[in-house]
Amino acid sequence: MKQKLVVFSGAGISAESGIPTFRDKNGVWGKYDAMKLASVEGFEEDPQAVLDFYNARRKNLLEVEPNHAHRVLADLERQYDVTIITQNVDNLHERAGSSKVIHLHGELSKVTSSRNRLDSNCIKEYPLDVPIRLGDKAADGSQLRPYIVWFGEYVDDLDLAEYLVKMADIFVVIGTSLVVYPAAGLVDYAPLEVPKFLIDPGEMKQGLPFGFEHIKAKAVEGVDVLVRRLEEMGK
Ligand code: OAD
Repeated sequence: MKQKLVVFSGAGISAESGIPTFRDKNGVWGKYDAMKLASVEGFEEDPQAVLDFYNARRKNLLEVEPNHAHRVLADLERQYDVTIITQNVDNLHERAGSSKVIHLHGELSKVTSSRNRLDSNCIKEYPLDVPIRLGDKAADGSQLRPYIVWFGEYVDDLDLAEYLVKMADIFVVIGTSLVVYPAAGLVDYAPLEVPKFLIDPGEMKQGLPFGFEHIKAKAVEGVDVLVRRLEEMGK
């Protein structure tokens, strides 16, 4: 039986692939207004601006590659039962070869209905090089929208994520500021007795969560430190 290694990732893991984070210097929400571009109200007010924003991010996904951190996590499947719970809407974990990836905040590669984001008849893969246009319709006849969880919307698979974190034998948090709830609350579900690591080059604004070892490095370097630490611990 392999040990269950659960990873909770955020924008920082994809930074070295060239996808900007949200709240660092030069972050996305420093340049753009999150409430205009990542809320239902913003979409109702100016759908074209929202579609332009996500179409650019969707197209950019074709131009970036997974980095060493994504690849090491995929390789760890040989030794561990790895689940990745990510806040990221990119597909770099999957492209690096990770087989169990849960997206809490949606996926750029999918579209859905603007009447009901969770209508399973309307959720589908959509080619990244094809822009979503005003007038494109979902299966229910409503305007097509990106399959992204906007502020104020329910986070996907939160119960499953909480359960997986509770069951973890090893828990690793990578590249997230831990300020966006409910996702950030996942760290509180990790069992007290299991090894818990946080890989992030910065200081955590809210303080380091209890019981975590801070590997203070970029994800691409921090994952190698993690692998060494697990070896040292005989895990
Ligand atoms: P943030 O931008 O809030 O935080 C990024 C974190 O990554 C910070 O703690 C940085 O110190 C760290 N970081 C920066 N470069 C790094 C590197 N090379 N390696 C490792 N870590 C690095 O991003 P998230 O916490 O992911 O939601 O943001 C959470 C959510 O807020 C996102 O999913 C998004 C956003 O609004 C939606 O779009 C719904």
